[in-house]
Amino acid sequence: MPLLSQDNKMSSLVVVGTGIKFASHLTTEAKIYIQQSNKVLYLVNDPAMKEWLQKNNPNSESLDEVYSRYFLRIHCYRAIKNYILDNLYKNQHVCVVLYGHPAVFSQPALAAVHQAKREGYYAKILPGISAEDCLFADLLVDPGSHGCQSFEATDFLIRRRQVDFSCHLILWQVGVIGVLNHPKEAHDNTKGAKLLFDYLNNYYDSKHKVTLYEAALYPHFEPTIERIMLKQLPKQKFSAISTLYIPPIHQASCDEEMLKALGINIADLQ
Ligand SMILES: C[S@@+](CC[C@H](N)C(=O)[O-])C[C@H]1O[C@@H](n2cnc3c(N)ncnc32)[C@H](O)[C@@H]1O
Repeated sequence: MPLLSQDNKMSSLVVVGTGIKFASHLTTEAKIYIQQSNKVLYLVNDPAMKEWLQKNNPNSESLDEVYSRYFLRIHCYRAIKNYILDNLYKNQHVCVVLYGHPAVFSQPALAAVHQAKREGYYAKILPGISAEDCLFADLLVDPGSHGCQSFEATDFLIRRRQVDFSCHLILWQVGVIGVLNHPKEAHDNTKGAKLLFDYLNNYYDSKHKVTLYEAALYPHFEPTIERIMLKQLPKQKFSAISTLYIPPIHQASCDEEMLKALGINIADLQ
């Protein structure tokens, strides 16, 4: 299936995601772009995935060095964006591979695709399976049942995001709160977790049950699902891949006037 020739251009930028679980989440389309591109640039953690990429395209190159070039992550992101574009300017088909969904928490790839499009290049992002998608499946959560709020944990705190506690709430990067550089392996998250607990406690009872979640990275492995009371958060062990899920407190009530205006009978909603 020759995907790269579809626009008859000599160069293109396609960003794909590996999903979370090794090999099982990679789409057929993403695999074909990886195999057919002139150049593959990748930023993935999993050594097995790195090996798979090198095997499937010998012109694969890790972005790890660019990612660790500067102290602040935001500066590394800029460098990665420029590196991706420099490769595109060499008149070749470039495939960028990121883990999870490649548009989710991936500033550099998004910025590169925006700029490439502005400059007239063929550029796009293919969807992938994100950690949030795995969470919905493993925790049996339907985001449509109550609505769903999803925030990066540090952003959630520093912007004092307003919580609608009738919604599902998902907090990303909850194990590295306040860290803007490259987190150390054994990052002590106690201060951040305490601040998070204090803030969430404005909305939720300290005994509200929340879940610390890690999706399985390999087939046949189970996810890590820890159900705790909110007040236990500051003492909890986090990792760089921990995501926090907080269930809604109750179903939001309906507005009578709006129901009437839409001709909806409330009994038909249950
Ligand atoms: C930089 S973001 C990357 C997100 C990724 N692009 C995706 O689509 O899921 C890193 C955050 O994603 C979440 N995450 C990544 N891997 C995860 C896993 N295996 N289980 C649960 N959450 C995960 C965590 O909140 C982690 O701090």
